[in-house]
Amino acid sequence: MPDRYGPALAGVLVVTDDRTAGTPPRGARERAESEELRARMSPDRYESYRMGRTSAHEALALWLPQAVHLRAEVLRGPLGQPLATLDDADVAEVSIAHCPGWAAAVASERGRPLGVDLEPRWSGSEGPAMRAASPGQLAVAERAGLVPRTAALLLWTVREAAGKALRTGLVVAPGVLDVEAVEQVGRDTFEVRFSSLPAMTGVTRVLDDVVVSLATLCRRTARLRLTNEWRTTSTAGRAWGLVVREPVDALEEQADSGPRELEWS
Ligand SMILES: CC(C)(COP(=O)(O)OP(=O)(O)OC[C@H]1O[C@@H](n2cnc3c(N)ncnc32)[C@H](O)[C@@H]1OP(=O)(O)O)[C@@H](O)C(=O)NCCC(=O)NCCS
Repeated sequence: MPDRYGPALAGVLVVTDDRTAGTPPRGARERAESEELRARMSPDRYESYRMGRTSAHEALALWLPQAVHLRAEVLRGPLGQPLATLDDADVAEVSIAHCPGWAAAVASERGRPLGVDLEPRWSGSEGPAMRAASPGQLAVAERAGLVPRTAALLLWTVREAAGKALRTGLVVAPGVLDVEAVEQVGRDTFEVRFSSLPAMTGVTRVLDDVVVSLATLCRRTARLRLTNEWRTTSTAGRAWGLVVREPVDALEEQADSGPRELEWS
């Protein structure tokens, strides 16, 4: 049984730029979906789709027991969101992102949907991100010590990650995904809070080539953190663990109040 008061591993993040290492679609339904999408998508879009699916399978391989992940399929849900299923049952939460040459995926425990997004740092993608960010939002991110173009990429990716965690994408009322605070919490790592979503927590890691963000809903006091880089996957992707941390005083408060312990079960 996991330690209720210790930081728990909540998921696994995989990031890859390996276009050649495709995991073949798993299972009849994923194969059929892949063939249907190959016919509908441009070659570039289909390559991104496959890179995303490969990353998702890599993340599931690190997250689930082998007997489960080897049979799990990653399908499209009704809102476009990826679903990791086996025999019609969800086996994990999964989120996918891709940008030219790169893909990322997160696998996490059922009931804790995470969203992921990534953007390249050096391909001009900061142009649209800069134009999309209001001066007020840019100022919030720059206060954490980021240069404007990295601040814009943080805002862009963390908002998309939050939209994916919510399953709405960016189709939300104005201001819902506005960022309230950005704080540097490690080398190249930034914690993000949202003005209208107090229970949403985000984390952004600025890597050499890409900015990658994650977000999830959790207790208001909890924070999402990445572990140090953990593994290289079998297809040369890089992997990090994801941890949800409670501040120590919140844990002590929980431990002192018997009935509220039920919230943890
Ligand atoms: C979802 C969205 C944020 C994706 O952003 P993007 O820049 O187009 O693409 P990204 O590479 O970041 O992510 C693409 C992946 O997001 C995932 N995705 C798509 N819709 C999603 C949703 N509603 N929730 C969570 N994840 C979703 C898919 O896995 C997709 O990859 P795939 O099509 O290859 O499987 C964006 O397209 C959006 O806001 N769309 C409008 C929302 C929408 O269509 N909602 C459905 C009805 S509410």
